[in-house]
Order: sequence, then structure tokens, then C-alpha cells
Amino acid sequence: MSNIKRSLLSVIVAFAIAPILITSQAQAADKASIEQGARIYAQSCAVCHQADAIGKPGFAPSLSNPEFLSVASDRFILATMLGGRPGTGMPSFAYLGADKGKAVLAYLRSFATLPDRSVAIDAEPASQGDVRRGKESFDLICSTCHGRKGDGYIAGGTGTAIGRAGTISHASDGFLRATIKDGRSNTRMLGFSGPDGMANLSDQEIDDIIVYLHLLADNEGS
Ligand code: HEC
Ligand code: HEC
Repeated sequence: MSNIKRSLLSVIVAFAIAPILITSQAQAADKASIEQGARIYAQSCAVCHQADAIGKPGFAPSLSNPEFLSVASDRFILATMLGGRPGTGMPSFAYLGADKGKAVLAYLRSFATLPDRSVAIDAEPASQGDVRRGKESFDLICSTCHGRKGDGYIAGGTGTAIGRAGTISHASDGFLRATIKDGRSNTRMLGFSGPDGMANLSDQEIDDIIVYLHLLADNEGS
């Protein structure tokens, strides 16, 4: 082989191998981050959210639930983790800082079995609706599990604090809408849309409820 041919060949080989090396480096970094996240999770979160983040009804929600991970954005999960949910059992983990927070996030994401739809979901339009009708549906259907004012476990139910500013301020309307429609498998949060839903709520009825959740969060404590 001539020198030119040989160097041409090595350039081609280098181009072919480089992406493979880069991918495996990224995978190694991901793996290290997931392992670090798993250690922090075991120390800081497992006491409430349980091993494998499966949650415990009436105590702490599942963080490895497929539908949850599919609709919750990184921003929502990090903000909830680092800021906590004032007025609920979810403490602030601000001391972890952004880097350790992201490692825990990578660990939680490693449980995902459905595609991450959170970017499209967060870009959905805000809910417009009738707050009075939203309250009617909420009182009738949601309050038994989430509490009459959406206070969550404090009110003795199995659902989280969906009427609290600490929840609503970080959740997009798209996230709330998707959760209400589709529910979360293997939890008591069943979907409310379609013939299999607990109650077949229309898109408008769901938006009415979301508007009411904002009102509850704004009036928190009153
Ligand atoms: C002392 C118990 C406790 C500990 C420790 C705890 N959490 Fe929570 N967490 C809760 C409770 C309770 C809620 C639900 C609050 C509510 O009622 O809305 C929650 C909610 C959450 C949510 C929102 C889930 C959803 O369905 O929207 C995320 C995310 C979360 N926790 C992450 C973490 C992470 C990550 C850690 C560890 C760094 C952690 N939590 C440690 C009790 C805890
Ligand atoms: C039978 C009990 C039950 C009923 C009724 C119920 N929920 Fe839930 N909901 C839950 C539980 C339990 C969770 C958290 C899942 C978990 O524990 O992992 C939840 C989670 C949610 C979440 C996500 C909150 C968060 O912290 O991320 C929203 C939003 C929600 N429910 C809205 C509603 C609305 C609106 C209604 C009424 C139309 C309703 N739910 C009715 C039990 C219920």
C-alpha cells in the first residue's frame, strides 16, 4: 500500500471509530452518574420513597412510575427535589446542590420504560376554564383522595398535595392534564379520560379542574 493510501485508510478508520468511543465515554459518564445518584437516593430519599422509588400509599408517591417519568420534566423533578414542597412531607434538599441533584435525576430516569414526553407536554397551552365547575368536579371526584383543599396526605387521603403552591408552581398545565387523563399505573391515581377511566371527564372538564387547582394554590392557607 502506498503511504497516501495508508494514511487515507487510517483517517477513515479514525472517523469510523471516533463516534463509538465518544458514545461509550458518554455511557460510562451516565453510568457513573446513575451509580452516584443511587447512593444519594439510598441515603436521602429511600426512607420515604422506598427502595426502587416505588413509593408508599398515603406516605410518599412513586418516583419510578412509568407515566410520572414520561410527563415530568427534569426542571419539575429538580425543582421539587431541591426546593421541597412547603406544607407537605417533602423536605427541601437544597444542600445537595445542582450536580448531586442531577445524579439523583439520572438514577430516577434509569427506571423509565416510556418515552420522555415532558418537553412537548410543558409546551402545551395553559388551561382555560370555568373555576366553579372545576370546584364541583374536584369536590365530587378528587377531594376524597387529595383532600378538600388539595392538601394531600395531611388531609388523610392517599393522593398528593395538588392544591398547594409548592406543587402547582413547578407543575405545567400540560403535566397536570396528562396526569389527570392517563393516571399513574399501579397507584391509586387512575386515569379520568376514556371508557376505562374512573370517571370519563372531557378535556374541558379537566381544564376546569386545573383552573380550580390554581385557585386553591393561590388561596393556600386561607
Ligand atoms: C421525609 C420523607 C421524604 C423524603 C426523605 C423525600 N421525600 Fe420526596 N416526597 C415526599 C412526600 C410526602 C411527597 C409528596 C408531597 C405531596 O403531598 O404533594 C414527595 C414528593 C416528591 C416528588 C414529587 C413527585 C410527584 O408525584 O410529583 C419528587 C420529585 C420527590 N419527592 C423527590 C424526592 C427526592 C429525589 C428525594 C431525595 C433527595 C426525596 N424526595 C426525599 C416525602 C419525602
Ligand atoms: C382513589 C384516589 C384518587 C383519586 C380519586 C384521585 N387521585 Fe390524583 N392521585 C392519587 C395518588 C395516590 C397520586 C400519587 C400517585 C403515587 O402515590 O405514586 C395522585 C396524583 C395526582 C396528580 C399528580 C400530583 C403530583 O404530586 O405530581 C395529579 C395532578 C392528580 N392526582 C390529580 C387528580 C385529580 C384532578 C383528581 C380528580 C379528577 C384525582 N387526582 C383523583 C390518588 C387519587
